[in-house]
Amino acid sequence: MAEQRQKHVPVMLKEVLENLKPQKGEIYVDATFGHGGYTKAVLDSAVCKVIALDRDPKVRVRANEFKNTYGERFEFRAGKFGDFSDLVPEKINGAVFDIGVSSMQLDEAERGFSFSKEAPLDMRMSCEGLSAKDIVNSYGERELADLIYEYGEERKSRQIAKAIVEYRRKKRIETTTELAKIIYEVVHHRAGEIDPATRTFQALRIAVNDELGELERGLQGAAERLLSGGRLVVVDFHSLEDRIVKNFMKENGGKKVRISKYAPELSPQDGLFSEVSKIIVPTVEECKVNPRARSAKLRSAVRR
Ligand SMILES: C[S@@+](CC[C@H](N)C(=O)[O-])C[C@H]1O[C@@H](n2cnc3c(N)ncnc32)[C@H](O)[C@@H]1O
Repeated sequence: MAEQRQKHVPVMLKEVLENLKPQKGEIYVDATFGHGGYTKAVLDSAVCKVIALDRDPKVRVRANEFKNTYGERFEFRAGKFGDFSDLVPEKINGAVFDIGVSSMQLDEAERGFSFSKEAPLDMRMSCEGLSAKDIVNSYGERELADLIYEYGEERKSRQIAKAIVEYRRKKRIETTTELAKIIYEVVHHRAGEIDPATRTFQALRIAVNDELGELERGLQGAAERLLSGGRLVVVDFHSLEDRIVKNFMKENGGKKVRISKYAPELSPQDGLFSEVSKIIVPTVEECKVNPRARSAKLRSAVRR
C-alpha cells in the first residue's frame, strides 16, 4: 500500500491494540476507518478479519487499496456508525471507534472544517444533508445561541448568535473565514488562548454531523453485537464525547451503579459489560510527535 501518502497519524495505536487484543480467526469492526491506521494495525497483528465503516465517501479509494492488499480479510461498508445494528448484522469479537474528523478532512480546505482556510462553510462528513452554511443562515438567534453554548461550551454564545443574525440581514454567510471574522468581532484573541472561532466551529460540526447522537447509537449498536468476551474500545477527543462514552460504560459496567438517586441500584449482572477500563491517556512522547493526540482519551469495556 502507498504508505508515503499516509496523512492521518493514528492516535494511541499501541493502547488500542492492547485493549482490543486481536486474535486469529476473529472479526473486528473499525467503526471509523478514515485512513485505515487502526484497521491496518489490527490486520497486521493477527490473521483476523476487519469490517470497516465510514460515512465519508472519499475514503473509498483508501478502502479499495486495503481490499487489494488484504482480500477476504477486509470489508468496507459505507455508512454511519449510528446505524451499527443495520450495517453489522453479524456477531463480532471487537469494535473500535476513533471519534471525530480525520486530518485529511481538516486539511482539505473545501470541506469547510477549518476556519484558517477560506472555503465554503460546509462541514458535512457524509457530503450530504444540512451544511453549516444552512444552519448559520436559517436558524433563529435563540436556536443558534443554544447550539453554540451546548456543543461549543462557548460563554459568549448569545453575542455570537446576535452578530451572526445581524450580519446575515445584509448578506448570507458563505465561507469559513467570513464566519470566523464575525466571531472575532465579538470574542477577541488573547495570547496563549485557543482561537476564538474554535468553539463555534466545533459546535457547528457537532450539529451538522449529529455527532453526539451518532456516538450514543453507535456505542449501543456495537455493544449489542459483541460476543461474550468481545471488546469495545473508544478514543474520544473532547469532554462532550467523553461524557457520553464514560456514562455508557459506567451504566452498562460491572460495578453497582445508581443512575439517579431515585432509581434502584443496578447490580453487576444487569449491565452489558463485565469489565470497564480506567481512562487511558496518550504518553507525553506521543503528544510531542502528534499534537492531535493531546486531548485524546481511551476507554474500553469487555462484553459479559
Ligand atoms: C479520526 S478519523 C479515523 C482515523 C482512523 N482511525 C485512522 O487511523 O486512519 C474519523 C473517521 O470517522 C469517520 N466518521 C466520523 N463520524 C462517523 C459516523 N458517525 N459514522 C461513520 N464514520 C464516521 C470520519 O469520516 C473519519 O474518516
